[in-house]
Amino acid sequence: MKIAIASDHGGFELKTQLIEYYKKQGLTLQDMGTYSSDSCDYPDIAEKLCRAILSGDVQMGILICGTGIGISIAANRYKGIRAAILYSDDVARLAREHNNANVAVFGGRTMTKEEVCRRMDIFLQTEFEGGRHQRRIDKLDK
Ligand code: RB5
Repeated sequence: MKIAIASDHGGFELKTQLIEYYKKQGLTLQDMGTYSSDSCDYPDIAEKLCRAILSGDVQMGILICGTGIGISIAANRYKGIRAAILYSDDVARLAREHNNANVAVFGGRTMTKEEVCRRMDIFLQTEFEGGRHQRRIDKLDK
């Protein structure tokens, strides 16, 4: 499975840390920017990553801005994208089990690296349950 990661300047440091964390485990995250801490606009960042998922180039994404809010709002405007802010370990699991989330969202200024790495591991290890949840997801994209 290919996973892309992208952030605005508010998430740049955390993005760098997450890339390093998974590199040590042998997993390369596809870095879609931003590539410095210079100010940029989160809708542009979300668009690039969401289009990569919708085209099938990558299967999952990680998006980071200062709070996670702006970039998740932007991502969820794309039909077929289900972006979830993983604000707890339980939510990291439920976002996969119930929502089949394909984008994990974090706040670079509101979450620690340890929390984010742990929640991302849970997210990647959890399968979608299907069933009644599939029916609900189908309604999102109608
Ligand atoms: C950028 O300063 C900040 O507004 C952005 O990263 C994000 O937190 C917006 O929701």
